[in-house]
Amino acid sequence: MTNESSETFINSLLGQMTIEEKVGQLNQAHPEGWQNTEMIRQGKAGSLLNASGALTGQSSSDSIGAELTNTLQQAALETRLKIPLIFGRDVIHGYRTVFPIPLAQAASFNLDLSCKAASVAAQEATASGIKWTFAPMLDIARDPRWGRVAEGNGEDPYLGARMARSLVLGYQGDDMALPNKLVACAKHYVGYGSAEGGRDYDNGEISEPTLRDIYLPPFQSAIQAGVGTVMSAFLDLNGIPATANHHLLTDVLRGEWGFDGFVVSDWESIAELIPHGIAENRNQAASLALHAGVDMDMVSQVYLDTLLDAVQAGKVPIQEIDEAVRRILRIKQRAGLFDHPFTDPRRFSREVLTAESRQLARQFARESMVLLKNKDNILPLRNFRRLLVAGDFINARAELFGTWSPDGRAEDVVPLDQGLKDIAPKDVEFWFADNVDKAMEYALQVDVVLVLLGEHPYRSGENANLSDLALSPGQAEFIDRMVAIGKPVVLVVFAGRPLVITRQLSQVDAVLYAWHPGIEGAAALGEIIFGTHAPSGHLPITFPRATGQVPVYYNHKNSGRPVTMNGQFTSRYLDIPNTPLFPFGYGLSYTSFDYSNLELSQPSIHGQIVVRAEITNSGGVAGNELVQLYVRDLVGSLTRPVRELKGFQRLELQPGETRSVSFTLDEQMLSFTRADGTRGTEPGRFQVWIAPNSASGLSGEFNL
Ligand code: BGC
Repeated sequence: MTNESSETFINSLLGQMTIEEKVGQLNQAHPEGWQNTEMIRQGKAGSLLNASGALTGQSSSDSIGAELTNTLQQAALETRLKIPLIFGRDVIHGYRTVFPIPLAQAASFNLDLSCKAASVAAQEATASGIKWTFAPMLDIARDPRWGRVAEGNGEDPYLGARMARSLVLGYQGDDMALPNKLVACAKHYVGYGSAEGGRDYDNGEISEPTLRDIYLPPFQSAIQAGVGTVMSAFLDLNGIPATANHHLLTDVLRGEWGFDGFVVSDWESIAELIPHGIAENRNQAASLALHAGVDMDMVSQVYLDTLLDAVQAGKVPIQEIDEAVRRILRIKQRAGLFDHPFTDPRRFSREVLTAESRQLARQFARESMVLLKNKDNILPLRNFRRLLVAGDFINARAELFGTWSPDGRAEDVVPLDQGLKDIAPKDVEFWFADNVDKAMEYALQVDVVLVLLGEHPYRSGENANLSDLALSPGQAEFIDRMVAIGKPVVLVVFAGRPLVITRQLSQVDAVLYAWHPGIEGAAALGEIIFGTHAPSGHLPITFPRATGQVPVYYNHKNSGRPVTMNGQFTSRYLDIPNTPLFPFGYGLSYTSFDYSNLELSQPSIHGQIVVRAEITNSGGVAGNELVQLYVRDLVGSLTRPVRELKGFQRLELQPGETRSVSFTLDEQMLSFTRADGTRGTEPGRFQVWIAPNSASGLSGEFNL
């Protein structure tokens, strides 16, 4: 259908609907209590969430999901106007094939892999009857105390915007009506990651320029990529809860960016306008949210309970309801639900957890792991025959999934101990110990100790906030004991966030940050530890030295007394340096890279400028380098960040090989929100870097 005929179809449907039927479309119900299909037959839901999959207590192993959603859909098609339901679910980093957590995916800086993984997730979830995922989460996170840092792409708006596009295209493809494509949802709009103190659901205060330049770009990129839906956030942003924010939901999202899909609230976030203290009661909460631009009410049923009366009493204009229904029908139509409302249950056995999807998950896990330290090139483990593997994670299976993986199944995962054995050279002898006494005893007999520990997935994700970013209780002591034996120690950390590992870093010989790597995490780890592949991940978020240093992020402002100035009264701590433990963009390989000969195509930017440098593999093995481009606008009408990422490229180099890498900077890439509130560039001097991370690199200058 063309856009025009599709709008004609929607308008004609809308013209036939009663107010009750319209209000029903605005309601997203939880299937609890709705299994009684009579309610659906009465047209009281436009969408169900979690109607399929493991969260409902069913097994996600077979066609049950599709059969159940088909039954519910049948009930919807028995309504007067036969409007299909759209089934939503959190398919966050894979469905049955669980990929690394989103933060780890961002560490790969591999846009193509994220697109492919999202596309596998779409194929598997749709085979189970789901047509809409509440992903990607695009919240910029500068505070790792916040548990949901695991679900996003880290701290950088440029990387966040590039990832947003890949993920949306992966889920939706070019045509979300195809049976194996999901409608995506850009969430949580907006500023959710700025929650004070890292406490989930807490308030945020973000200035307009920071909102525009840091928090909004990933969302705008998702809209440009055609995302079908957006979710409004829980938080109170600058005094207006995001779910009641007309300016952001209507003026910016629809007015400035031209979004024509629909907005769903977060779970009960409309009813939460009452405790926020912006609505007196459910009636007011509903009318505020609808007026702001929230089209569908997730779970709280305030729309269903109040809007009919509100329209009849003249308190809510019917035009607002019509507009919300129109947007919902538009996405249902675009998703092909009017033509193909049912799912073929036979798809599940063919399309879920295939050999290819596992292969992709393994590659992704490998590329997301970040090597942080490698003293004397102890990794890959080559010259050691007797290996002790010790720590809380040695038998990990479902623990490798991380947060939001309700459809992953532990039995699909090869445990870490087995995974390592499968990959290791045949002559390696293994000892395994999950407790300290056993580990101490075995350690005396081995050549090297591999310690596997970190956060349990429940210590990461929604509302899993921490006031202290230290390793989990007992783990630091465990490492102390292992180190005391005097054998080389390699530490592998599994986590959903940057943890403070300052002390451990100085104690051990090597540190590999493995995040929560997903279903193929064990094999991926083995491939890196034993050197069939070199690590290539880079940090998408700054690692603090101490929790008290948070928030600490690379693209901060300089201050009038930067620590780099001389004197006692500069902006600094007495007890620790200002620099983080590891900067954004950091990551080692099994080789080393030298950067030389930075050149600019001309001294001033005229529309564009090309920045070039040579990168040499100066080590003894092949390796893959993530070359990064940063700029700094040295003087502006508003103060500017000390660095901003503007590009990245991967180079695969053989030992001794040198290659030239070039980036083209467009003038428009230097634009920002200026003092007068408009967006654009300002003439002046700019510094530019080609760099291996955000804290080093070769630099030059140009003028605009
Ligand atoms: C979360 C959302 C999620 C929704 C539905 C909420 O608690 O904040 O991210 O999509 O639940 O499960």
